[in-house]
Amino acid sequence: MAGCSAPGKLILFGEHAVVFGEPALSTAVDLRAEVYARPHDEWLADGRPIDDPRYAYVKAAVEKAGETSPLWLEVRSALPEGSGLGSSAAVTVATLGAVHGRRGSIDPGKIAREAFEVELAVQGRASPIDTTTATAGGAILAAPDKEDNLLWSMERDGRRWFLHHRKLPAMDLVVGFTGVNAPTGPLVAKVRDLVDGKPEARRWIEEIGDITIQGLRALQGKDWKVAGALMDRDHELLNKLGVGHPLLDKLVVAARSTSFGAKLTGAGGGGSMIALTDRPEETASGIAAAGGRAFIVHAEPRGAMVLP
Ligand code: PMV
Repeated sequence: MAGCSAPGKLILFGEHAVVFGEPALSTAVDLRAEVYARPHDEWLADGRPIDDPRYAYVKAAVEKAGETSPLWLEVRSALPEGSGLGSSAAVTVATLGAVHGRRGSIDPGKIAREAFEVELAVQGRASPIDTTTATAGGAILAAPDKEDNLLWSMERDGRRWFLHHRKLPAMDLVVGFTGVNAPTGPLVAKVRDLVDGKPEARRWIEEIGDITIQGLRALQGKDWKVAGALMDRDHELLNKLGVGHPLLDKLVVAARSTSFGAKLTGAGGGGSMIALTDRPEETASGIAAAGGRAFIVHAEPRGAMVLP
């Protein structure tokens, strides 16, 4: 039996704008997905046919890895699906790692590239930030230009993303899951339509890009108040882009009384919000009292790991 685990992620700044080539900042979190693979006489995932739609990413990943002999796959994930915590990217990366790991050591650059292609195939438009974060761990800056600590670059439809590692200080983040499962693909398409039809929306996308760079500086300088205010503004812009949800606003408002700032994270439309706080227990209670499922999460430096 070969296995691989990969972390979930939070987008701190820049979701949606990153699909248009603007910068975005993410961090891996200490909630992981694990996938185990062993030879079998038919393709099964958790004992079910691998064609079951819930295993779309797993199936696409084994195909991408070029595996032809059937496998019994076991998928374990601490990441709620459709929650904005990068569950599909973590499962995709862990599947690729488990399949490649059976043949020897894993090459993170190759896995990140293949995982991005799987996301594109299953979800439609995407940026490589989720899949790179699940592969490399730590904090990731996706940017339109090459900077220091470059991991790799990826291209799609004439757009190129440079993926970098960034160092962030320890910080307390609380996630609030709305419980509303919102698939990413249609939300990304909705923003595309808005930007195509409304010049103002293009400016919101650019402002989110500027916020990401300012947010990175504020976090690195431990200027939590500035970082929180930037999160609040980012949330407002994401609402203008049409990816908000009344429950997200409710959780964000509940979190703000005990935090520096809060915003939706990931694709939106439901999914989750995050708050930057120095009172994580109180913020988590506030989110729970407003009807959210609260998790206190920590940054995870480790990316994809082969499991014995
Ligand atoms: O739905 P999530 O958490 O995987 O986040 C998607 C982030 C987007 O910027 C909306 C899309 C992308 O591929 O970057």
